[in-house]
Amino acid sequence: MSTAFEAALKVRNAADYADFLFPHLHDDFHVLDVGCGGGTITLGLAERVAHVIGVDPSEGELADVRRYAAEHQIENVEFRVGSVYGLDFPSGNFDACLCHSTIETLSRPLDGLIEIQRILKPGGVLGVACVEYGGLILAGPNDEVIRRFYAVRERVWQLENAADPYLGRRLRGLLKRAGFERVIATAKYFSYGSSEDVQSFGLARAEDCRDPWYASSAKKHGLATAQDLDAMSEAWVEWSSSPEAYAAFAWCRALGWKQL
Ligand SMILES: C[S@@+](CC[C@H](N)C(=O)[O-])C[C@H]1O[C@@H](n2cnc3c(N)ncnc32)[C@H](O)[C@@H]1O
Repeated sequence: MSTAFEAALKVRNAADYADFLFPHLHDDFHVLDVGCGGGTITLGLAERVAHVIGVDPSEGELADVRRYAAEHQIENVEFRVGSVYGLDFPSGNFDACLCHSTIETLSRPLDGLIEIQRILKPGGVLGVACVEYGGLILAGPNDEVIRRFYAVRERVWQLENAADPYLGRRLRGLLKRAGFERVIATAKYFSYGSSEDVQSFGLARAEDCRDPWYASSAKKHGLATAQDLDAMSEAWVEWSSSPEAYAAFAWCRALGWKQL
């Protein structure tokens, strides 16, 4: 198994990212993780419930996690290709659903939530979460350049219809509109405040500046030149070793229960 997958399993884990759903899960539950991506959070859910199905439109995303689950004889998890707009399950099929870091990427988030509600049992619970750019906290060197990196990323997401950086704050309203009976919205901060965390966070952002999709979109929309992107990358590298550096990101979450 690739060490990259095992590293991702440690970083992108259910204990950190799906903790808000844990108190509402029972060990006999059948759970759907929609937009499961690499499936690292899905595996963490599988440790707590009877059965989990991870669904994602991207077959390529699922290869490593399927292999990992087979190698580790994790038999209560499966991964299927599918879309939240038309889930291939009967109505009332699942006790709970997680939709993590996916709703903000949808062009029709309300339609996705309505479809999730359909496949939940009466009384079933949805946990949905996404990052919220209004909750970004940054300190350290090169403040202006580093903030520009995020300003460019936001615009790229919007112009490329890749994601809505401000959907987190609307989760409560969206779940209500989708018909969930009881909705509770919260937020959690993820902090990068130790030398190790600052270093890995900063170096990852430096890499992001070189990401072909980010770089070509930024240039295409006239948001940054190649020189700007180099300067941003260098600014992040310097930031990553500064004792003044600190970053924190708000993740908005909402729980919604389907009517009994
Ligand atoms: C940022 S990733 C999040 C993956 C995972 N939930 C996590 O938090 O690690 C967003 C995922 O949403 C998936 N996605 C995009 N459109 C979707 C759709 N219509 N239905 C289900 N998933 C979708 C993408 O393929 C991608 O894997």
